[in-house]
Amino acid sequence: MYRIVRKKVLNSSVIMMDIEAPYVARKAQAGQFIILRADSEGERIPLTVAGYDREEGTVKIIFQTVGASTMKLGALSEGDFIPDFAGPLGRATETEGLKKVAVVGGGVGCAIALPVAEKLHSEGCEVHSIIGFRNRDLVILEDEFRACSDKLIMVTDDGSYGEKGVVTSPLKALIDSGEKYDRIIAIGPLVMMKFVVATAKPYGIPTVVSMNPIMIDGTGMCGGCRLTVGGKTKFACVDGPEFDGYLVDFDEAMERSTMYHSHEAAEREKVCNLFKQN
Ligand code: NAD
Ligand code: FES
Repeated sequence: MYRIVRKKVLNSSVIMMDIEAPYVARKAQAGQFIILRADSEGERIPLTVAGYDREEGTVKIIFQTVGASTMKLGALSEGDFIPDFAGPLGRATETEGLKKVAVVGGGVGCAIALPVAEKLHSEGCEVHSIIGFRNRDLVILEDEFRACSDKLIMVTDDGSYGEKGVVTSPLKALIDSGEKYDRIIAIGPLVMMKFVVATAKPYGIPTVVSMNPIMIDGTGMCGGCRLTVGGKTKFACVDGPEFDGYLVDFDEAMERSTMYHSHEAAEREKVCNLFKQN
C-alpha cells in the first residue's frame, strides 16, 4: 500500500499529491510515468511523474479530475493509502547536449513540463518556458517555473493573466526575435502540441512532444496506447511517452482520444451526483 503524504488542490480541477513510494522515487526521472489504482476495484490510471524526492521516498503526481477514476483519487485525503503505484515506466526525457531549450506547457500538461524544465536547468541548459492556461483561475506552478527558467512567458486565452493568447504566439515571437533553440519540448493537450509542431516546422527546430493516450498494462502488451509515429505503430508506454513531434500522427491520436468519452460520462455519473442532469 502507498500512503498519500501530502495533498494540495492547485485549482478547481487539478490536484497535487506526494505518494510514499521509495522504490519508484529512487529510480524515477523526468518524462517517465507511473500507473496507479485509487482502490482495488479501480481502473489503472497512467500519470506522468511530476517530481520526486529521493530522500523522502516520495513521488509527486498532479492530475486533473476529469473522469470517474481521477475523481475517486481526488476524493482521497492525506494519510489514506492507494493499493497500486507501479513504475517508473517509459523512457526518461533525453536532455544530453542541449544548451538552449524552449519548454512549452499547456494547462495541466505544465505539471509534466515542469520536471523537464527543472532537469534542463539543473544541467546548465538555458530554459525559456512558455506556459498557457485558459484563464487566471487555472494557472498552476508559476513560482516553480520561474525558479527554473531563464525566461518565463505566461499566457492566458482570455488575457486575464500574463499575455493574451495561446502558447504558439510567444513561441513564434521568440523565434522571430532571433532566439536559437536546440529543441522545443511541448507538453499539453494534443491540439496544442500539434500547433507547436506546426509553428516550429518552418524553422526546422527539433520538437519533442509527450503523448498520454489511454494506457492499460503499461508494458507494451495490450496495444491500448498505440500511436502512429513516422508511419509506424509505436506504443507510448514503452517507446515513449516522448516522441519526435514532426512524426506523430496527431489527427489519429485525437480521434482515438475521444473513444471512451461516452463511457467516461456514464462512469462520472455514478461517482458524482453533480454530473447528473435532470
Ligand atoms: P487547455 O485546453 O486548457 O489548454 C491549455 C493551453 O494549451 C491553452 O491555454 C493554450 O495556451 C494551449 N492551447 C490549447 N489549444 C491550442 C491551440 N489550438 N493552439 C495553440 N495552443 C493551444 O488544457 P487542459 O484542459 O489543462 O488540458 C487538458 C488536456 O491535456 C487533456 O486532453 C489531457 O489529456 C491533456 N494532457 C496531456 C498531457 C501530456 O502528457 N501530453 C498531460 C496532461 C494532460
Ligand atoms: Fe498496453 Fe502500452 S499500455 S501497450
